[in-house]
Amino acid sequence: MRVLLTAGPTYEPLDPVRFIGNRSTGKMGYALAEAFAASGADVTLISGPTNLPDPAHPHIRTVRVQTADEMYAAAATEAPAADVWVFAAAVADYRPATVAREKIKKSGYTLTLELVKNVDIAATLGKTKRPEQFSVGFALETEQEEEHALGKLRRKNFDLVVLNSLRDAGAGFGHDTNKVTLLAANGQKTIFELKPKAAVAHDIVQAVLSRLTTHA
Ligand code: CTP
Repeated sequence: MRVLLTAGPTYEPLDPVRFIGNRSTGKMGYALAEAFAASGADVTLISGPTNLPDPAHPHIRTVRVQTADEMYAAAATEAPAADVWVFAAAVADYRPATVAREKIKKSGYTLTLELVKNVDIAATLGKTKRPEQFSVGFALETEQEEEHALGKLRRKNFDLVVLNSLRDAGAGFGHDTNKVTLLAANGQKTIFELKPKAAVAHDIVQAVLSRLTTHA
């Protein structure tokens, strides 16, 4: 089985020294790469900038990228040959419209940045998904969690969506634990307890493997 996994944040440059980014650490995505590799899969981990070392497992190949465009290009290369796609990255939705060649100098009291929309990696690849391929997405929500997560499942052609609610203590960015609910395209819902991210990754891998046997 071949798995394509995106993880970590993306950094969108403003000038040679500054970028727009987010607080994703990549821990959940890296834990998933380890859990898929432990189940016998060959994993391509496409990672935005993180402080984590490349996983040492021989069946994990790590590709380092910075921006959403670079992450998309790397993912699009791998996607056709992968059986399972997992989109765990916190991709920046927008990037600066222009990247200044020189460092932007301080001038007026206010500074307005123009941002343009980035490619939606999961949704764009979702349009190319074949019936036997299986796509897993993440949804980090603060309100109307299930409704929003199921909207993403439909829009991005996911077979399974991993819902994180920021209302749950110990879930989401920066923690070593996570609390997730899995929502499947067939309406199935599984609620898990708060656990270390490695245990959450194991649960997600088991859920994917059990569905793959009946999928397409
Ligand atoms: N995603 C992606 N490319 C993007 C944005 C999101 O591949 N440009 C993927 C994420 O990796 C995740 C899922 O889509 O699996 C949902 O991400 P999220 O940021 O919650 O969704 P958005 O569509 O950006 O919705 P929102 O308006 O809530 O930010």
